[in-house]
Amino acid sequence: MAFKKIYPYIRKHKKRLLFGFFIISISNLLAVLIPRFVGRAIDTIATKSFQIDFILNQIFWVIILTIGSGFLMFLTRKIIIVLSREIEYELRKDFLWQLSRLPYSFFVDYSTGKLMSLATNDISSAREFLGPAVMYTANTITTFLLALFFMLSLDVKLTLLSILPLPLITATTYIIGKKIHRSFKDVQEQFSKLSTLAQEVFSGIRLVRAFVREAYETNQFHRLSDDYRQKYIHLEFLQSLMIPLLIVLIGLSQLVVIGYGGFRVIEKTMTIGVVSQFFVYINLLIWPVAAIGWVTNLIQRANASIERLWEIFDIKIEEETVSPMTQEIQDISPSIHFNDVWFRYKEGLPWILKGISFQISPFSSIGIIGSVGSGKSTILRLITKIYSPTKGCIFIGGVPLSQIRREIISSSVAFVPQEPFLFSDTIAENVRLGKPNATDEEIEQVLSLSGFDRDLKTLPDGIHTLVGEKGVNLSGGQKQRIAIARALIAQPKILLLDDAFSSVDSETEQLILSNIFSHFSETTKIIISNRISSVMHCDTILLIDDGRIVEKGNHQSLLHLGGKYRRLYEIQKLRDEIEKEN
Ligand SMILES: Nc1ncnc2c1ncn2[C@@H]1O[C@H](COP(=O)(O)OP(=O)(O)O)[C@@H](O)[C@H]1O
Ligand SMILES: [Mg+2]
Repeated sequence: MAFKKIYPYIRKHKKRLLFGFFIISISNLLAVLIPRFVGRAIDTIATKSFQIDFILNQIFWVIILTIGSGFLMFLTRKIIIVLSREIEYELRKDFLWQLSRLPYSFFVDYSTGKLMSLATNDISSAREFLGPAVMYTANTITTFLLALFFMLSLDVKLTLLSILPLPLITATTYIIGKKIHRSFKDVQEQFSKLSTLAQEVFSGIRLVRAFVREAYETNQFHRLSDDYRQKYIHLEFLQSLMIPLLIVLIGLSQLVVIGYGGFRVIEKTMTIGVVSQFFVYINLLIWPVAAIGWVTNLIQRANASIERLWEIFDIKIEEETVSPMTQEIQDISPSIHFNDVWFRYKEGLPWILKGISFQISPFSSIGIIGSVGSGKSTILRLITKIYSPTKGCIFIGGVPLSQIRREIISSSVAFVPQEPFLFSDTIAENVRLGKPNATDEEIEQVLSLSGFDRDLKTLPDGIHTLVGEKGVNLSGGQKQRIAIARALIAQPKILLLDDAFSSVDSETEQLILSNIFSHFSETTKIIISNRISSVMHCDTILLIDDGRIVEKGNHQSLLHLGGKYRRLYEIQKLRDEIEKEN
């Protein structure tokens, strides 16, 4: 049962929850006493020889009990619903904490949309179980038992007859409630499709215009929008069905009371007062009974949601096991050594790296060149400890990478990924990610090292210009240069550039590279590219093909070798010359 899983969250608040149950019982007890005073008053009036004091006295008690019961109901809501909000908060906090510790590979398998839906829909349906479902269940049970007790003590037959239609009310809220929920989800999903499309079209408006896709996209939007309308109309239909159906069924119960009760009054085996009491009891029972159907739906939904959430909570976090000897290592020497490293992303998938071995001495530079998919980025993912080698070993500063804590790696290694990610903040804040306490001057300095200084002059607010969502206001090359600045400002011991110049023109590329080589002589550099021009100045160049190092040496020696590297060089030179001529 899924609720066992959420129990630890409830246990902390057990006392408050029990207090809530106690209050709700008292509130219901007061409520079921009301009909007695009503009945007594009516019976007295029916005798036609009543005293006004007696009637007023009954009215007084009805008022007191109503106020008392209402106030306690208010208290219950405050206790239980507030409690459920607190548990929701704790649940969401723990969920985020769990996510923050999960390995990178987890996020490759789980889409952002799925995680968002867990963090919003599933957590809130778990809350609905803890709050409304618990509260209405307690309410239904106590009202039902108390009212039934008083009704049975008045008349057994009328009790049984009058509660006969009640299960129909439960069935109605259950069945229609379920349909409404499904339809509501349909509507929400459709709306999210619609807004995703709109968002995509607006953020990709340049492409839409360039490819003259306006009509196509508009059509697409119309189609989704029309579906949305249909689904909403269906939802409204179901919702409009609920209340009238309930009113009919409630009427049925009341009819039984009046019909059979009236008959008994004529027979003189029952007083009008008793019939009136039944009338009030039935009205008291209707909402709790309707709640049963509704709560059953909530519980089923919560059950499924909790199962889904615990799929994530149950993932064991592998603690980094670092031996006590290396625990103390704060400072690593920036040499890198790959010793026969084999890697595949998952068991059963093909090998991506097939016995990679190389050594980089501190402060030197290495270029890695190779076609798309040859495994270049994977090598960097291993150095940053995002993944670990399947076989073989990586040493940094002579220490096995598995023995160096991840924080040490993240503080000494700066990584510019192939597709830089910018947050929708200012340029300055995006660079500052690399060094949280950096001053504006420092930021401007590194931006000029990464060749962004000319661009700054054309931007309205300089480094305080907003980059837009994921950097839409910037060109690909500008984004790459901001990402490079972000890495440089950290003054890393090891700098990893993964195809970081792919959208930068070759002149700017050479400028940035010469800045990096002159200002970061005390940094070990790995530069990945499929352009010879990016790697030709490196001390050592590795040519990777299908997960293996096939050629190795510096630019001159590789040219002399007359292999693949040389061919690549000649092709690219020819291409550059043709481009220049045009
Ligand atoms: N998360 C992943 N899961 C499974 N396969 C992957 C993953 N990431 C990359 N690959 C595969 O690994 C191979 C090498 O990828 P990569 O190192 O990115 O190549 P490169 O950077 O040289 O273009 C590719 O065939 C790619 O499909
Ligand atoms: Mg790559």
